[in-house]
Amino acid sequence: MTDDDPDTATRRLARESLAADDPTGWFERLYSAAADGQAVVPWDRGTAHPLLTEWVQSAEPDGAGKRALIVGAGTGWDAELIADLGYDTIAFDISPTAIEAAQRAHPGSKAQYQVADLLDPPAQWHRAFDLVVEIFTVQALPISWQAAATKQVGEQVRPGGTLVVIAAARADDVPDGAVEGPPWPLTRASIEAFGVNDLRLIQLEELPSPSDPSSTRWRAEFLRD
Ligand SMILES: C[S@@+](CC[C@H](N)C(=O)[O-])C[C@H]1O[C@@H](n2cnc3c(N)ncnc32)[C@H](O)[C@@H]1O
Repeated sequence: MTDDDPDTATRRLARESLAADDPTGWFERLYSAAADGQAVVPWDRGTAHPLLTEWVQSAEPDGAGKRALIVGAGTGWDAELIADLGYDTIAFDISPTAIEAAQRAHPGSKAQYQVADLLDPPAQWHRAFDLVVEIFTVQALPISWQAAATKQVGEQVRPGGTLVVIAAARADDVPDGAVEGPPWPLTRASIEAFGVNDLRLIQLEELPSPSDPSSTRWRAEFLRD
């Protein structure tokens, strides 16, 4: 990769993948280029997402004896926050190099990092987690894939369990065709779509992005009855 601007370089990789009808292939190529010092992963904050940290501080969940699943975990900062609360935590990503990077970044971690595809998750995860955290994964997939990804996120929450979703927000009146992703930010309706099959929306906030206050983020919390 030769672009200086990581966002431009990332978009170019993504475009090439999309043109080759391989909408998730660019994640591994990006993490791999980053591992070789040839790229920067633009969403690698070196810390948990501030809106997740804030949720933890306010909800004060006790993870003792409970299980958590971190979707599209990248280099693992959110997983570390959740594992440190006592949750028996699985953090997964489609990119093997991301998982290697997470393991390298967090030696001695209490979280278990593994490669898996959200669109075809292990059967034993089904409704097995007290807490599922999804940050920016669904929006990184083409809009035509998002409904299936959304359903799979919710299906991993056990009865009585909680789902936390953080995503870039898109106004409902912006048509799909006007969004040139990735990412493809989520409308309010697409956030509400996580709330099916006994998964109840209990809080939905639209908040300024901590990194760019000119844009907004959804933070949603669901509970499975
Ligand atoms: C925009 S990044 C967000 C990473 C992390 N959640 C964060 O907020 O920093 C999307 C992540 O989802 C992963 N990913 C994309 N499609 C996936 C899939 N189908 N299954 C699992 N992980 C996926 C990517 O490799 C990438 O790490």
